Amino acid sequence: MSPVIIAPSVLAADFGRFCEEARAVQEAGAEWLHLDVMDGVFVPNISFGPDTVRAFRCGTRATLDVHLMIARPDEFVSRFADAGADRITVHAESSPHVHRTVTAIRSLGKKAGVALNPATHEDVLGYLLDEVDLVLVMSVNPGFGGQKFIPMALEKIRRVKALIGKRPIHLQVDGGVTRENAASIIEAGATVLVAGSAVFENGKAAYKENIAGLRGHAARAKPATEVGDNLVLSSTSRSSTKHDRT
Ligand code: DX5
Ligand code: ZN
Repeated sequence: MSPVIIAPSVLAADFGRFCEEARAVQEAGAEWLHLDVMDGVFVPNISFGPDTVRAFRCGTRATLDVHLMIARPDEFVSRFADAGADRITVHAESSPHVHRTVTAIRSLGKKAGVALNPATHEDVLGYLLDEVDLVLVMSVNPGFGGQKFIPMALEKIRRVKALIGKRPIHLQVDGGVTRENAASIIEAGATVLVAGSAVFENGKAAYKENIAGLRGHAARAKPATEVGDNLVLSSTSRSSTKHDRT
């Protein structure tokens, strides 16, 4: 099993010390910086835009993983690409033309991702899987850090993993990720863990331990063979999901 990628969500960082925070989490072992862009329309919160993404580069080599939670992504993708984003993820719910959006991201030389809100069924991925490099399964309703992981997301992660199959696509999970649930999220099929609170809690001196703790718990995940990866992807499995909720 390839090592998990940890992507701290900078929404939980000290906005007054962007560069120091960006460098600190990278030095603490984070491979990616997860930049949550919010417009107050697609989600009930506002964060920052392309100029701040440019600022987040801060001379680091970290991969800038931009998560667009905005209502009109097509109008902004090229500006985030110019600002230095390495990866740009858009929500399947944010545009009727998400196929055009992800192909535009790739045409700009960036890695393209598609995100699913908790209520969005993985079926929407049907015609997108050969156009993206990442699928983001939201395990909270987007807009804020510090929320609780939604347990039903685990079943969706398993189903998305089965749909991805052998394709070279990252499965990213975002929202309420902690040491306690990291192993089950990895067992379900995630390859990238986004974490805000779990990384930035207890201040800069704790970042290294927080990231190592997440990675250590993720490493306890049982390999797919032990977990029983013979997932039944039929309509009947929906009823089994209902039973799972008991
Ligand atoms: C929520 C964002 C998440 C969030 C993660 O809309 O997409 O990235 O900041 O924060 P935690 O890990 O605290 O849930
Ligand atoms: Zn995010």
